[in-house]
Amino acid sequence: MERLPFIAGNWKMNKTVEEATGLVRELKTSLSGVKDVEVAVAPPFTALYSVSQELMGSSIRLAAQNVFYEEKGAFTGEISPLMLKAIGCQYVIIGHSERRQFFGETDETVNRKMKVALTHGLNPIFCIGETLKEREEGKTFSVIRRQIEGGLQGLGENEMKGVVIAYEPVWAIGTGKTATPEQAEEVHRFIRERLEKLYSPEIARGVRIQYGGSVTPENIRGLMGQEDIDGALVGGASLKAESFSRIVRFREM
Ligand code: PGA
Repeated sequence: MERLPFIAGNWKMNKTVEEATGLVRELKTSLSGVKDVEVAVAPPFTALYSVSQELMGSSIRLAAQNVFYEEKGAFTGEISPLMLKAIGCQYVIIGHSERRQFFGETDETVNRKMKVALTHGLNPIFCIGETLKEREEGKTFSVIRRQIEGGLQGLGENEMKGVVIAYEPVWAIGTGKTATPEQAEEVHRFIRERLEKLYSPEIARGVRIQYGGSVTPENIRGLMGQEDIDGALVGGASLKAESFSRIVRFREM
């Protein structure tokens, strides 16, 4: 099965509304004519609405960086899936390692977020990945397995068709240390094998698995050349139109 490459930019806690709309305007120009790659941007919450207005009529999709697992109510500071859907978000990043590390997210809360996102028609970009310590202790595969089983708990085959997985080794995020294409592929293949065991060969073949962690215009091609790497979740290099566009245009490099 042909999987459409999917490159998403995670802007994290960067960009005011003005900066965000400026960047997306540049991206519309620099990415015009790009075919056969799906592209999404994930601005901070405060810029989502303005960016969604700016993206009207464009093929660039809108993603949020987080969501809460309730629809509404007394949850000060949280954002509901209904609110994201209402302003045109199609994707939502769930379980990013920074959320797990700094904001106490667990496999269980991640799982609740996955379910509520899917219920409201948002496609999760479900993030998993091991820390340096876990890798050095030889625990990479058991950690990935635990995160997959915990995060996807109770999701059926139909729901899985709406899920994108992002493998992001924590030691490669924002550090300039990318996993080699072979190191990443080894884990991507393992993830696909797990999906086959948990679901079916069809689901395993269809789910897109992005790599994330210090992706740049220089290393994207090698990563995309691997059989089980279907795209990238890009942090730092997504903050400038020039570098993000070069990543999206990986085939032309
Ligand atoms: P990075 O971030 O590209 O800056 O390493 C990736 C991510 O955290 O999604």
